[in-house]
Amino acid sequence: MDIAVVGAGHVGLVTGACFADLGHRVLMMDNDAKRIAQLRRNQMPFYEPGLEELVARGVREKRLRFTTSMKEAVKGSAILFIAVGTPQKTNGEADLTYVEAVARSISLHLDGYRLVVEKSTVPVQTGQWVAHTIRTYLKKKHAFDVASNPEFLREGTAIADFMKPDRVVLGVESQRAKELLMRLYKPLGAPILVTDISSAELIKHASNSFLSMKISFINAVAQVCERCGADVAQVAEGMGLDGRIGRSFLNAGVGFGGFCFPKDLDAFIKISEQLGYDFDLLKAVRGINEYQKRSFIEKIRSALWVVKGKQIGVLGLAFKPNTDDMRYAPSLDVIRSLLEEGAKVCVFDPQAMQEASHLLPGAKLCKDAYEVARGSDCLAILTEWNEFKELDFARIKKLMRQPLVIDGRNIYDPSRMRALGYRYLGVGRKQKEPLRRN
Ligand SMILES: NC(=O)c1ccc[n+]([C@@H]2O[C@H](COP(=O)([O-])OP(=O)(O)OC[C@H]3O[C@@H](n4cnc5c(N)ncnc54)[C@H](O)[C@@H]3O)[C@@H](O)[C@H]2O)c1
Repeated sequence: MDIAVVGAGHVGLVTGACFADLGHRVLMMDNDAKRIAQLRRNQMPFYEPGLEELVARGVREKRLRFTTSMKEAVKGSAILFIAVGTPQKTNGEADLTYVEAVARSISLHLDGYRLVVEKSTVPVQTGQWVAHTIRTYLKKKHAFDVASNPEFLREGTAIADFMKPDRVVLGVESQRAKELLMRLYKPLGAPILVTDISSAELIKHASNSFLSMKISFINAVAQVCERCGADVAQVAEGMGLDGRIGRSFLNAGVGFGGFCFPKDLDAFIKISEQLGYDFDLLKAVRGINEYQKRSFIEKIRSALWVVKGKQIGVLGLAFKPNTDDMRYAPSLDVIRSLLEEGAKVCVFDPQAMQEASHLLPGAKLCKDAYEVARGSDCLAILTEWNEFKELDFARIKKLMRQPLVIDGRNIYDPSRMRALGYRYLGVGRKQKEPLRRN
């Protein structure tokens, strides 16, 4: 099939490259001319494992092309995916400016039936607005359909997530739209759930908010653990063994970030409010996440007594491993607060150093974990990259000014760290040896 994907970002580019790999002819459209020029030279605008090779293959086999022209995208395709950003407005609402601009631009070039698919994460009822917008700006009457096909991929494992999804959700309101999307997705062999458009839109917001809720829940449990000497890792293990609860997303830490969870949570709270429902539960989820970051900063403060003048090493800047994405990363709040207090902050991340050079101008960028450790009074772990799990802590101890590790991702074994001579503070981890009966 001939497909156009509008928005060559984390979702759009992966979507386009994967569809091309499945044998479709894909035209990637983006209004960022620099990005399109980069892609034509096979330079990726962001880091995603395996993407460069996948894009190169699509281009080599002439199934993947790039353009800045919406006219070309509309003329040459049967299905148009909208995968542009839906950032956050200052009041928490989703900013649908880009989605609206794309809908308007599609309508101006429509010359026959097209299926327009929302892939971006959007509040419920956006599909109706997209259809209304296309209808309003159409030059000549043409049939079209709008569908919702929310994307569940995760940065860092995006290609595998796209190719082997847990489920595909298709929100459609015509048989023609359903058939086109079924043809596209059937080869993946994943369960396909067909719903109306509003339900599909809600599935995405409800899913992301539910996952955020699981993280905030275990982070709140971690707070209780810290106050009573229990170990959140053991509590999560015990909870997760219950099939009704499940182990995933029960890792206590410094809080969630990224381009999806915080903004989707806010957008869901906002759209619920506009529909007349106060989604209090989700406000608490957001509050716990903010508290978690503050409490991590507080942990550093109380461990160091005075922060001003101290050197703090930070390992991990991206909001999660295997990406260079630092949008809404907890590292930003933590590091900015430490810099404000007068600490010298030395940082390292395996992929996000370029991002960090723009976002954290006050921090010292280091070439690896050992350079970060040299002369530091404290090592703070903010992203659970695999390569941090196997560091030479005997060497690090010699490099540090004092052997203090504050682990915001609970990647180390507390007793092992203590045996190595570290003062080790995790999130919700047992701080003392358990009581023993004599
Ligand atoms: N990043 C994720 O992990 C993820 C996962 C699932 C869903 N989503 C959702 O997918 C959507 C896209 O997210 P992303 O992370 O890919 O964003 P992104 O910022 O990485 O990419 C968005 C792209 O859209 C382009 N764009 C903006 N306006 C345009 C226009 N008028 N015409 C053409 N191109 C335009 C931008 O230049 C950019 O390249 C969001 O709604 C997001 O919530 C993201």
